[in-house]
Amino acid sequence: MKILVINGPNLNMLGIREPDIYGKSTYSDLCEMIYTHAKQKGIEIEIYQSNHEGDLVTAIQNAYNVFDGIVINPAAYTHTSVALLDAMKAVGIRTVEVHISDVSKREDFRRISYVRAACEKTISGHGFTGYLEAIDYLLGD
Ligand code: DQA
Repeated sequence: MKILVINGPNLNMLGIREPDIYGKSTYSDLCEMIYTHAKQKGIEIEIYQSNHEGDLVTAIQNAYNVFDGIVINPAAYTHTSVALLDAMKAVGIRTVEVHISDVSKREDFRRISYVRAACEKTISGHGFTGYLEAIDYLLGD
């Protein structure tokens, strides 16, 4: 089982950006947590982050025939990107959408998710643990 974890814009700023919303732990803390979990589960994990929409589209396209599942936090592109939705539909890889914060309890524009239509499940507001829950879901655990 090979899972690709994709993080969108500004998630590299975790620990610095709005700690009241996203917490004080850093992006590398998040990656470490995911790698440790993957090791425990005996699966292969790759983590990719970009601030650029087109690069995220390319990462999804490149996952075709390589990865069995995708865990994606598209960050702000969640609420704007038809291109990410189309890429996810194109590759047809089982995908879980993750948000660190509870997007349903924030501004109205965060309630809209363009990518959700291509995702099997959405996990929102569970902090960093949401990524581990998404991996477990894909594993059927
Ligand atoms: C986010 C929520 C988005 O609305 C926001 O733009 C982000 C992070 C989250 O993980 O809670 O950058 O996806």
